[in-house]
Amino acid sequence: MASPFYFVFLLSVLLLEQTYASPNYREALSKSLLFFQGQRSGRLPGDQKLSWRFSSGLSDGSSAHVDLTGGYYDAGDNVKFNFPMAFTTTMLSWSSLEYGKKMGSELQNSRVAIRWATDYLLKCARATPGKLYVGVGDPNGDHKCWERPEDMDTPRTVYSVSPSNPGSDVAAETAAALAASSMVFRKVDPKYARLLLATAKKVMLFAIQYRGAYSNSLSSSVCPFYCSYSGYKDELMWGAAWLHRATNDPYYTNFIKSLGGGDQTDIFSWDNKYAGAYVLLSRVCCPSQPIKIHRHNLASPFTNTFLWQRAVLNKDNNFEPYKQAAENFICKILSNSPSSSTKYTPGGLMYKLPQSNLQYVTSITFLLTTYAKYMKSAKQTFNCGNSVIVPNALINLSRRQVDYILGVNPMKMSYMVGFGSNFPRRIHHRGSSLPSRAVRSNSLGCNGGFQSFRTQNPNPNILTGAIVGGPNQKDEYTDQRDDYARSEPATYINAAFVGPLAYFAGGRSP
Ligand SMILES: *[C@@H]1O[C@H](CO)[C@@H](O)[C@H](O)[C@H]1NC(C)=O
Repeated sequence: MASPFYFVFLLSVLLLEQTYASPNYREALSKSLLFFQGQRSGRLPGDQKLSWRFSSGLSDGSSAHVDLTGGYYDAGDNVKFNFPMAFTTTMLSWSSLEYGKKMGSELQNSRVAIRWATDYLLKCARATPGKLYVGVGDPNGDHKCWERPEDMDTPRTVYSVSPSNPGSDVAAETAAALAASSMVFRKVDPKYARLLLATAKKVMLFAIQYRGAYSNSLSSSVCPFYCSYSGYKDELMWGAAWLHRATNDPYYTNFIKSLGGGDQTDIFSWDNKYAGAYVLLSRVCCPSQPIKIHRHNLASPFTNTFLWQRAVLNKDNNFEPYKQAAENFICKILSNSPSSSTKYTPGGLMYKLPQSNLQYVTSITFLLTTYAKYMKSAKQTFNCGNSVIVPNALINLSRRQVDYILGVNPMKMSYMVGFGSNFPRRIHHRGSSLPSRAVRSNSLGCNGGFQSFRTQNPNPNILTGAIVGGPNQKDEYTDQRDDYARSEPATYINAAFVGPLAYFAGGRSP
């Protein structure tokens, strides 16, 4: 007979598993969108809620005699890097498209956040025929200073790509952002949606016709900051997948097939979009009966002639190999899968890389939630080796990641600024760490801010909703401003989190 202690033990384990109160997902969703107001460049509107920020970058573009005001600063500095900004916009748009019905009143705030970026991206694509502007602000100059965006006196150099200086990566990501956002505005502002889509098509054509990496064209102005390390084939696939979803034009189907598959990856980020493309293409794929393949015998779905023959024979299954690739990706993420290559901290956080790890957590969590949603609507399961994967396995893992970020972790620390009572106070962010113009009107200059940078005092301005780089692999977080790998927020960390937050805020069924 089992001892009574055993039952007490069992009971407390069950209680520990079950009884932490769920974080308030709706509040987190609202704050995750509010964060984007803190990153705004350009002329701020009257309804700006983060009131410690003011207009900035009002002559951006003037050195090239064009208007490139607006858009977002990428992270804790004052540079507009279009490559991650466009990815941010694509992910915000994907969040609205998949989870808009669950967002309630936040759907409108999400459209505002998207439009702040797309108004700028449209300028970048339309200002000068034959050119795509891809950034404003010399990052090397900017990084030498610690000053408020409102005080910027560093070179606002304008960067572009063109047929003689191509950038298929940044162009295809821009096309993805414009195509995805066109669907967000299709019903509420059809005229704007048409402009977005028409521009997306042109930019995608440029990416396809003039192949090249923007890192080669722009070198030290984008590297090592946002170098396209994964090459540009992933963006070509991702951009074409978005245009396919927006237009259903067989031109894009054929183009995607002509690329002939991509890497077997276990990451998803502003740099590497293969996994995102696989999941996106799975949505339109394969309504018929599942095929039986032992995944561990399968080197790559793209070299499996059976899958390709099936794809060619059956129009509905054009993207079957991509669905297989999406599932291979998820098998590399799930901890109990034989092909898993993903580490977890003792507290249960997915741990990919030391530099801004939470960016990978939020973007991969987006894919898990979204793939589960597609599985539920198609009533499908899949296998990792011999284990059958049901949608709720993906949902449960997503939920653990979301809850961890919102404070259910060994440090009991919320990694979203302004959420809960224990959150990062010394984030690596110029505007947040320096006194606001509202309390100190004169400029601090390039070096005047370093005193504030070095102090142990908490930041004076709360960048509500910002998610930082996050804890180390032992679940530890020291909250130091100079530890930018962990204490810096970024637009693309938040953008990918909006979808899962909306999913859990709106109840668990898709
Ligand atoms: C998901 O979590 C719920 C609640 O903790 C649990 O009942 C269920 O068995 C889990 N499902 C899977 C597939 O892990």
